[in-house]
Amino acid sequence: MKNVDFKKYILQKTEYINSALKKFLPKDNSVVSQGMRYSVLAGGKRLRPILVILAAELFGVEAEKVTPAACAVEYLHTYSLIHDDLPVMDNDDLRRGMPTNHKKFGEAVAILCGDALLTESFNLITKSKSSERNINEAVRILAYYGGYKGMIAGQVEDTLETGKWNRKNKILLGKKLKFIQIQKTAALMVASLKIGAVLAGADKASLKVLEVYGKNAGIAFQIVDDILDLYADKKLLGKEGSDAENDKLTVLSLYGKREAEKKAYEYIRKAKKVLAVFGNKSEIFVHLADHITGRTY
Ligand code: IPE
Ligand code: IPE
Ligand code: MG
Ligand code: MG
Ligand code: MG
Repeated sequence: MKNVDFKKYILQKTEYINSALKKFLPKDNSVVSQGMRYSVLAGGKRLRPILVILAAELFGVEAEKVTPAACAVEYLHTYSLIHDDLPVMDNDDLRRGMPTNHKKFGEAVAILCGDALLTESFNLITKSKSSERNINEAVRILAYYGGYKGMIAGQVEDTLETGKWNRKNKILLGKKLKFIQIQKTAALMVASLKIGAVLAGADKASLKVLEVYGKNAGIAFQIVDDILDLYADKKLLGKEGSDAENDKLTVLSLYGKREAEKKAYEYIRKAKKVLAVFGNKSEIFVHLADHITGRTY
């Protein structure tokens, strides 16, 4: 697959996800529905829903069957962003190129919009077309990786270290940072891949391979996110960058830019290495991994 074809494929999938999200989101004019639509439709790369679809396609199942699950993961992701931007967390004013949810609707409604997207994600995922058993398993995966042992655990650790990390020793901090990267970011990517694969009836060994791929690609994704927070063109990024100001424990604060970039490439190498068992069918996952280190937003 040529790089232009990959880019075309991703663009097509992004548009497909965007129109599916529009279809699923509530249509009424209540404040909470407006807030849900505002943040979900603000934009975003739709990486997680794309992972759901790619994983299903890897096992021969068409996108349409897993589209509710793909959108469910995007709902959960968007909720995490709304809460992440709140003044008590990262205190950011811009997200996906628009004022953050709490800037537009106020903090109380923003919290509730996040809650609503989280709750609705579990309704939406059940609308996927697969066996009852597979759907149950997909729901369980979403709860696990989005929950207190997954994304939330990472967000908690991230918050606890904010402004405090400097006092500790570097080796310990390196381990802590890796935990944060895996939990707050890689967990939802692993979930996306596993959900798509489970709904498509994949075997256990394949799920394990996708888990390793998603974990390493997810760590790399967060490393790049930390680098972009300081160095990206903020207009293109759609967010202002607040890690330095917040005194966050990030790959930049701990290692600096050069070492961080090296690490990102190393994790991408690890992610791609495990794909060999899928042969040619996994080519798109190789492109996607390379796309992570090359991204500018
Ligand atoms: C931002 O995720 C939060 C992280 C986990 C790094 P994305 O960079 O995927 O944000 P969107 O969905 O494209 O806006
Ligand atoms: C947040 O990480 C990850 C989430 C679970 C939302 P960041 O705080 O680095 O994400 P951005 O940079 O605000 O998108
Ligand atoms: Mg954060
Ligand atoms: Mg943030
Ligand atoms: Mg960030």
